[in-house]
Amino acid sequence: MLKKTRVAVLVSGGGTNLQALIDSRDRGELPNVEFALVVSSAADAYALTRAENAGIPSLVIERKGKKRETFTRLLCRALQDAEIDLVVFAGFMVILSPEFFETFENRAINVHPALIPSFCGEGYYGLHVHEEALAYGVKLTGATVHFATAVTDGGPIILQKSVEIEEGDTPETLQRRVMETCEWIILPQAVRLFSEGRLSVEGRIVRILEESK
Ligand code: GAR
Repeated sequence: MLKKTRVAVLVSGGGTNLQALIDSRDRGELPNVEFALVVSSAADAYALTRAENAGIPSLVIERKGKKRETFTRLLCRALQDAEIDLVVFAGFMVILSPEFFETFENRAINVHPALIPSFCGEGYYGLHVHEEALAYGVKLTGATVHFATAVTDGGPIILQKSVEIEEGDTPETLQRRVMETCEWIILPQAVRLFSEGRLSVEGRIVRILEESK
């Protein structure tokens, strides 16, 4: 039996991706995972209520009114104090300074609501990503889970899942479909793979190792 992976989930808003992780845990799909901490960058994030309902300790580190470096230092300290093995960015709308990615190299993952390298990078977050995808006229979009590095949305890709754009889609309908059919599926899968020690990173390439019997 592997030691449980202590996971922290970083949030800023509604927290539906956090909920997908909790639901996956509650279905018994994440036996090697312990959700040890939720950190929110905003005190009014509904994700905090989800954490409380699921019995996960939470912490608010307000982004407002702090320098990027100060915020990053406080966050790193909180994660280290909680002995976190894996950090999951789940709708976390904060750009961190490089120090974070040195401390958590290959131990931090992000979910992004597009097929990277499309519609990603600084300025591409939340609903805006779907507005841009519709305006560009792509026929397929989706979600990506990747290791987080100092390059926003630029780290090695772990999993991707696509979905078709439908006639009459609005940014809101597309966002919902990408969440339901892509993000909420591949994020728990990636956390599971990490917790089973099945992700091997060689440069930009992530290999998924066979399940050990
Ligand atoms: C999700 O679609 C997530 O992929 C996206 O924000 C939404 C948060 O929803 N994240 C980004 O755009 C980061 N670049 P949630 O709070 O309900 O999980």
